[in-house]
Amino acid sequence: MVKSNKNLALIGFMGCGKSVIGRALANKMNYSFIDCDIEIQKRANMTIPHIFEKYGEDYFRELEKNFISSLAATEESVISTGGGVIKSNANIDNLKKNSILIYLKAGPQKLYKNTIHDDNRPLLDTPDRLGRIKELLQQREPLYTRNADIIININALEINEAADEIIKIIESRGI
Ligand code: S3P
Repeated sequence: MVKSNKNLALIGFMGCGKSVIGRALANKMNYSFIDCDIEIQKRANMTIPHIFEKYGEDYFRELEKNFISSLAATEESVISTGGGVIKSNANIDNLKKNSILIYLKAGPQKLYKNTIHDDNRPLLDTPDRLGRIKELLQQREPLYTRNADIIININALEINEAADEIIKIIESRGI
């Protein structure tokens, strides 16, 4: 079984499945589950679209940074981060202190399919959603890849398969 008490922090683009795979993974590992977006919304008492609309993205990033830094004493948790968490070096540094970073990698078509019915992601609130996904993914892909301890390609995996794959890799590396 897994040896360390480090958190497993899931990183990746909007729609890659961080929340659903994260929940499945936490259940299988008997870890707590923390969804950063949900916690940020609770703290702000506002939805993410509302935060963006009223105060702008920079303000959201401040809330996100504060929340990530508040996880310093957390262990044995699966943390589902927001897709833009890797834009801040401070977030990466804070996460790396007590978490293994796992990039759930998916292609633009899969991300588009997974977000097609969503209206809770302000950055995808545009007529050409696929085009926006491709553009943002191109900017962010190097950041996800560079900062990940583990990369899982989830294009062809179901939720449970992805969670099992993560556990298999962690165990094989003795993490
Ligand atoms: C964002 C991703 C969202 C949320 C916010 C910004 C991003 O989280 O944090 O809308 O910049 O990619 P999910 O990745 O959970 O959708």
